[in-house]
Amino acid sequence: MAAGVRMLICYYSRTGHTQHMAEVIAEGAREVQDLGVEVKTLGHVDAKDLLGFHAILLGSPTYYGTMAAEVKHLIDDTIAFHGQLNGKVGGAFASSANVAGGNETTIMDILAAMLIHGMVIQGSPTGDHYGPVAIGDVDRRSKTHCMAFGKYLAELTMKLHG
Ligand SMILES: Cc1cc2nc3c(=O)[nH]c(=O)nc-3n(C[C@H](O)[C@H](O)[C@H](O)COP(=O)(O)O)c2cc1C
Repeated sequence: MAAGVRMLICYYSRTGHTQHMAEVIAEGAREVQDLGVEVKTLGHVDAKDLLGFHAILLGSPTYYGTMAAEVKHLIDDTIAFHGQLNGKVGGAFASSANVAGGNETTIMDILAAMLIHGMVIQGSPTGDHYGPVAIGDVDRRSKTHCMAFGKYLAELTMKLHG
């Protein structure tokens, strides 16, 4: 029954920081058995591909306090499948250059779209509450939160879809 449950960790990254976050999140998610975890850059994912996953985690650098246009483009393309992401697990993560540079607003903007799709969002009572953030590249602090995020969303995915 659990076989075939799939998580997509999809990111956009120009200078590698958000990509590194995606890789660490995948490491955390892979601690949970029986979940297939795939990491893909945005160029290799289109809106239709999202239908094949039970969990979709989207990562973006923070550009002017929100997601990169490329990430918004993917989200806007999901209109073709509106209603079909209902009940899937969602999550978001972001990198910025500065502390208070807009990571949380970036995450909340992605999560808002996921909620409109009817996706299931889980926050964290400890650590990075809305989703993991990195200031620049992944450091020890953000690594801890990326790992934990991957793991708790993997557990939620197996609970709901396993
Ligand atoms: C167009 C543009 C806008 C940016 N806007 C912000 C911003 O509002 N706040 C901030 O802290 N960093 C901002 N940055 C910096 C990036 O968010 C930061 O360098 C991030 O770590 C890049 O992630 P990446 O390596 O995955 O591409 C901006 C960078 C670019 C290119």
